[in-house]
Amino acid sequence: MFPELRMRRLRSGKIRDLVRETSISVNDLIYPMFVDETIDSVQRTASMPGVERLPLNKVADDAKEAADLGIPALILFGIPAQKDEQGSSAWGDEDVVQKAVREIKSELGRDMLVITDVCLCEYTDHGHCGMIDREKGEILNDPTLPLLGKTAVSHSKAGADMVAPSGMMDGMIGAIRSALDENNFKDIPIMSYAAKYSSSFYGPFRDVADSGCCFGDRSAYQMDPANSNEALREVELDIMEGADIVMVKPALPYLDIIYRIKTEFGMPTAAYNVSGEFAMIKAAAQNGWLDEKQAMYESLLSIKRAGADMILSYFAKDMARMLK
Ligand code: PBG
Repeated sequence: MFPELRMRRLRSGKIRDLVRETSISVNDLIYPMFVDETIDSVQRTASMPGVERLPLNKVADDAKEAADLGIPALILFGIPAQKDEQGSSAWGDEDVVQKAVREIKSELGRDMLVITDVCLCEYTDHGHCGMIDREKGEILNDPTLPLLGKTAVSHSKAGADMVAPSGMMDGMIGAIRSALDENNFKDIPIMSYAAKYSSSFYGPFRDVADSGCCFGDRSAYQMDPANSNEALREVELDIMEGADIVMVKPALPYLDIIYRIKTEFGMPTAAYNVSGEFAMIKAAAQNGWLDEKQAMYESLLSIKRAGADMILSYFAKDMARMLK
């Protein structure tokens, strides 16, 4: 008599397409870009094949390429000429991200949603995401908040459509929301890196963005990978402080967190398919150990299946090409 039920009936041909539960669309993708004000030609990166550091005069072209592929949004990371203890090149009107935003917006206008990463680690000479007490080797939470507020305001002034604070300082969403509101940017949404784990998978990014730490690590403010309930508390706080979109980062090792957050809050939820997740697939593919396109598709699809509405990924352009 058995098998009575034949699951295989639905697995081939068009019927397989018909019963597919999850899909990925170009509208789910956010393309990360690195803009470096110290260079004047495009630079390849060693740890992230295909990811480039762009000079200011090339950002608009690259953003246009993404727009032509149908990608709706990008996120900008800046590499400044000057770093100092406070990270003061993060918030000047003539600093790297502000200039890049203006370049892209003047080329693309409403055809591209420009998001800016709001953090100090690329701008501080010590590489931490906030102010520090050098003697104690501590990262100072509260003195960092107004600096993040100022940075978000300067990005908005330059024309950014959304800001994305990634520094994991307590109260940063509230501080940024107030700063934006006081400066007449009530309609600029905040995408919070709400559950950001202290992860080894950021390694290639720190090399590309030149944002390594020179003392200690970031475990005093980024989350312990062992914790899951804590992620819900982080997200809840950020929602109370005014986050419009909440993010989980990294993505693949944290699919359970994405699932719990989406289920619990029903908020627009983003996931960051980080540099290490990208580099692993690239390296394995270069060795002929797996099929890069299939691994990319399966990864991004899994992140959506877990509950993410949108994905920040270095595969954005490749995925968009595959979907065409
Ligand atoms: C902090 C920031 C980081 C990433 C995005 N924003 C680095 C960090 O926390 O060390 C990592 C992204 C990636 O690995 O792709 N500004």
